[in-house]
Amino acid sequence: MRKNADNLVFIGFMGVGKGSLARELTKLTPNLYGLDTDDLIESFTNTKIKKIFATAGEAAFRALEQKTADWLAQNVQNAVISTGGGFYKVNNLHAIGTVIYLKADFEWIYRRITTAHNAKKKLKKRPLFQEYEKAKALYLSRQEGYEKAADIVIEMQSAPIEEIAQNLLERVGLPTGRDL
Ligand code: S3P
Repeated sequence: MRKNADNLVFIGFMGVGKGSLARELTKLTPNLYGLDTDDLIESFTNTKIKKIFATAGEAAFRALEQKTADWLAQNVQNAVISTGGGFYKVNNLHAIGTVIYLKADFEWIYRRITTAHNAKKKLKKRPLFQEYEKAKALYLSRQEGYEKAADIVIEMQSAPIEEIAQNLLERVGLPTGRDL
């Protein structure tokens, strides 16, 4: 399979800021387009993630993630791709691009989600983040998998998001310059 080294693939737990960092990157560089695997799934199924979980079940959602991964690996270049928190388990992650794990403590993530101005909406759309204890157990069970899957690890608590974006672009050798 083709290795799309030009794509950046963000993995990491729900609420860590994959979409936010992807948006920062697309502001900074002219060559990257932003995609989100949950958004792709919702648009091609015309169904909200929450409803897919409730009606078809988690296994069906994971199959949709794999289908999305296959399509991305074959067809997408020059994109920064934010993924759902369980997407790192697809069988061709590295064929999509450079895998970047966005890492943070569970408490930091929990606070980030629950204190957001749209916290209710952020929680509502995440069926696996309904109970603190369950979400924390899921977080702990995934740490090793995220680390193992990563080409690059980024500590999200280390700096403001604009700075993290700038550093990441320098690290992967992408030009900056666009000011939207
Ligand atoms: C999931 C994370 C969600 C979404 C789905 C399952 C997970 O995406 O894909 O609810 O298994 O961690 P975010 O990480 O964008 O919240």
